[in-house]
Amino acid sequence: MVSSYANSTENPKAEILKSEAIKDIIAPIVVNFSSRRPNRIVPEILKPDISALGVEILAAFSPVGSMSHYDEDKRSVRYNILSGTSMSCPHVSGLSAYLKSCHPDWSPASIKSAILTTAKPMKKSFSFNLVGEFEYGSGHVNPLQADDPGLVYDISKEDYLEMLCNLGLNASNVKLISGENYTCPATSHRDLVKNLNYPSLEAKVEALKPFKLMFNRTVTNVGFANSIYKVSVLPNSKVNITVEPDILSFKSLNEKKSFVFTIFGGEIPNQNVISSSLVWSDGTHNVRSSIIVMV
Ligand SMILES: *[C@@H]1O[C@H](CO)[C@@H](O)[C@H](O)[C@H]1NC(C)=O
Ligand SMILES: *[C@@H]1O[C@H](CO)[C@@H](O)[C@H](O)[C@H]1NC(C)=O
Ligand SMILES: *[C@@H]1O[C@H](CO)[C@@H](O)[C@H](O)[C@H]1NC(C)=O
Ligand SMILES: *[C@@H]1O[C@H](CO)[C@@H](O)[C@H](O)[C@H]1NC(C)=O
Ligand SMILES: *[C@@H]1O[C@H](CO)[C@@H](O)[C@H](O)[C@H]1NC(C)=O
Ligand SMILES: *[C@@H]1O[C@H](CO)[C@@H](O)[C@H](O)[C@H]1NC(C)=O
Repeated sequence: MVSSYANSTENPKAEILKSEAIKDIIAPIVVNFSSRRPNRIVPEILKPDISALGVEILAAFSPVGSMSHYDEDKRSVRYNILSGTSMSCPHVSGLSAYLKSCHPDWSPASIKSAILTTAKPMKKSFSFNLVGEFEYGSGHVNPLQADDPGLVYDISKEDYLEMLCNLGLNASNVKLISGENYTCPATSHRDLVKNLNYPSLEAKVEALKPFKLMFNRTVTNVGFANSIYKVSVLPNSKVNITVEPDILSFKSLNEKKSFVFTIFGGEIPNQNVISSSLVWSDGTHNVRSSIIVMV
C-alpha cells in the first residue's frame, strides 16, 4: 500500500507519528476468563505453573481460518489479534527455545525451573476468592532473569516414572506412558509424590488433623562456581516451616546439593489454603519457589 501510494504521485508525503505508550495500572493480572484452581489429579504439583502475556496479542493467522471463529465469516487474514492461553503459551515456548539456545546442556525440567523460580509474583485478581498462586502459579515470566537463575531444580525421565509409580500406576500403565519396560521401586508410595524435584512445593492434607509434611529437593548450581546460598521462608501464622540445611555452599558449576523442607501444621479447618514461599539467595540470584498447602 505504501509503495503503490508512493508510485502514484510525483510528490508523495508521509508523516511518522511518535508512538503512544499506555500504562495499564492493573497489569499484569490474570484475566478472569483464564483457567484457575488446583491440580485435582496430582495435588502435589502446583498448577498453573506460570503466567505470560495473553491479551490482545497480534500474531500470524491462518488465511483459511475464520478470523472471527464464525463459520459464516469468509474473511481471510494473515494476521489477527487474539486473547487466551493459546496466545500466552507461544511466549513461554519462545522463551524456552531462547533459554535452550543460551544453555544447550539444560534439560527441559531445568529450563522450566529457570522460568518458574525467576517469575515475578503478581497481584491477585479481585473477581475470585482464591490465593494468587491458583491464578498465576509462580508468577509473571521474567525472560531476562530466567537466563541466569543461579540454581535449577532438575528432573530426569526416571524421576517422572518413579513419580507415576508413587501415584499408584502399575507397570503396564507406566509403560503406556514411557514406551519402555520399567520396574517400579518396591518403596513406591503416594506420600513420595511430593518428592518429585519440582520448582514449587504443594501438598493436600486432611482437615483438622495435625500434620508434618517433608519434601526432598535437590538444586544444581548454574550460577557462580563458588557461591553460598542462604534460605528465607515467608512466614505463615498457620504453619511452622523448617529447611535443613539452611545454607548451601557450592565449589563448582553443575554441583548438586539436597535439602529437606518440612511444614508442621495444627488442626486446620476444611477449605483452607496456606500459601508461602521459599527463596535461596546468594546475594545476586533469588531462586524462588511457591509453597501451597491445601486443606
Ligand atoms: C513502485 O515502484 C518500484 C520501483 O519502480 C517498483 O519496484 C514497485 O514494484 C512499485 N510498487 C507498486 C506497488 O507498484
Ligand atoms: C472480569 O474482570 C474485569 C476487570 O478486569 C471486571 O471489570 C469484570 O467485572 C470481571 N467479570 C467477571 C464476570 O467477573
Ligand atoms: C494395571 O492397572 C490396570 C487398571 O488401571 C489394570 O487393567 C491392569 O490389569 C493392571 N495390570 C497389572 C499388570 O496389574
Ligand atoms: C519388555 O518386557 C517384555 C516381557 O518381559 C519383553 O517381551 C519385551 O521385549 C520388553 N521390551 C523392551 C523394550 O525391553
Ligand atoms: C529425603 O531426604 C532425607 C534426608 O536427606 C533422606 O533420609 C530420605 O531418604 C530422603 N527421602 C527420599 C524418598 O529420597
Ligand atoms: C510452631 O512453633 C511454635 C513455637 O515453637 C509452637 O508453639 C507451635 O505449636 C508450633 N505450631 C505447629 C503447628 O507446629
